Amino acid sequence: MKTRALYTGSFDPLTSGHMDIIQRAAGMYDELTVGIISNPQKHSMFTLDEREEMIREAVEPLGNVNVDHFSGLLADFVNRNGYDVIVRGLRTSADFDYEIQMAQMNATLFNEGIETVFLVTDPRYSFISSSTIKEVFLLGGSVEGLVPDAILDHMKNKISVDK
Ligand code: COA
Repeated sequence: MKTRALYTGSFDPLTSGHMDIIQRAAGMYDELTVGIISNPQKHSMFTLDEREEMIREAVEPLGNVNVDHFSGLLADFVNRNGYDVIVRGLRTSADFDYEIQMAQMNATLFNEGIETVFLVTDPRYSFISSSTIKEVFLLGGSVEGLVPDAILDHMKNKISVDK
């Protein structure tokens, strides 16, 4: 039987740290879905449609990764779609403290047999988040290498369109 994994986040934007987790999880499971949370209340740089399109482009070469979105409770999305594994990345001990609570709460809501699996973030990316990437970029700093090249192009286009 195929093992289907889910990796969730806001991905505004997708960073090289996210991409590293996606590549490694794609190698571990038969199928991986990148699940983007849709939160219309949250002000984001990219719309949900733009994020879906950009991530689809980035994961296309991997072959076994698809992209979807959800709103509301993660556990409802997971149970409804029959995922076997939820993948989370751990950057620091602060992530661990937060993630363990979330995983334990989710475990009370998941259908039987669904596991949360943690992958340790590549140290090259353990200090980044989507917000810090956006802040540095918008203030004119270089984020080269910290986001996939294609995502950086989309960020540059976005800023020139918004100007
Ligand atoms: N490399 C780089 N950055 C990373 C990273 C990695 N490997 N892993 C996480 N990050 C960054 C993210 O970009 C994000 O940055 P931001 O806050 O600046 O946007 C930050 O670290 C936090 O990541 P994450 O915890 O994945 O938050 P998120 O907002 O991207 O996604 C959900 C959160 C969607 C996974 C979570 O809120 C959720 O499941 N919500 C559904 C509601 C629900 O079920 N709630 C009950 C839970 S018990």
